Amino acid sequence: MSTRSEASPVLVATQLSKRYGALQACDQVSLSVLPGEIHALIGPNGAGKSTLINVLSGAVAPDSGGLLLNGRDVTRAPIQQRVAAGLARSYQITNIFQKSSVMDNLLIAVQAQQGSQFSFLRSRERDTVLYSAAQALALECSIDASLWDLSAGTLPHGEQRKLEFALAWAARPSVLLLDEPMAGMGPDETLRLTELIESLRGRAAMLLVEHDMQAVFRLADRISVLVYGRVIATGTPEEIRANETVRQAYLGDEGSTC
Ligand SMILES: Nc1ncnc2c1ncn2[C@@H]1O[C@H](COP(=O)(O)OP(=O)(O)OP(=O)(O)O)[C@@H](O)[C@H]1O
Ligand SMILES: [Mg+2]
Repeated sequence: MSTRSEASPVLVATQLSKRYGALQACDQVSLSVLPGEIHALIGPNGAGKSTLINVLSGAVAPDSGGLLLNGRDVTRAPIQQRVAAGLARSYQITNIFQKSSVMDNLLIAVQAQQGSQFSFLRSRERDTVLYSAAQALALECSIDASLWDLSAGTLPHGEQRKLEFALAWAARPSVLLLDEPMAGMGPDETLRLTELIESLRGRAAMLLVEHDMQAVFRLADRISVLVYGRVIATGTPEEIRANETVRQAYLGDEGSTC
């Protein structure tokens, strides 16, 4: 059996660059994400983390560089082709249907993923199968049944972020891009989402952009540090915590307390 470090990466970015006018938002970024790995991407505000996530997801075209997803060159592929190749993302800003119920949001996500697989079923049977899949997804993502009939927009912020995570998880991705999933959460909500991600560890690779260092150091198998658009270090949490350049550029003394 091969260990994770021997396995082929699910995502390989090679010297990806993206410029906005005079600003080099991503500067020859190279990084890889291994199967099932939680790879955190950290760095100061404006370092280019969301830009990189946008380039990886296909929302923004890079000026140069390359991207392999499960061995396929998707550097110029549209978003849908990347999704079909196993990529999913959640956003820094919540991206759910606010007026629809929680269950309807889940059903839409499940249907988008599996709908055509059940096209041979009669509509009532299809509804039953989809509902069961949406229920299973809710339970897998710790979304309590008491919330299923509520309008998604009325949920507490932390539950909305969990729902958004579930919508991305519905695609059964091999790589999930998470841009600040803990943003705006209180400590209890952050802990619950951290535990949810922990519970799914190994079932998909995750590239996790996050400012909450407690969550990062608890979850990450490896960490890459982005500063002024450049990766200045990649390593295990211990290596990153001990890296003097990283401490000076970003972590300060924070890493030592995580
Ligand atoms: N569409 C755009 N047009 C022009 N400049 C942009 C655009 N998107 C991002 N930028 C700039 O690129 C730089 C990197 O921004 P980005 O949002 O990627 O940083 P970030 O690391 O995600 O920051 P944060 O931690 O605050 O979310 C910033 O200076 C930002 O102002
Ligand atoms: Mg950002």
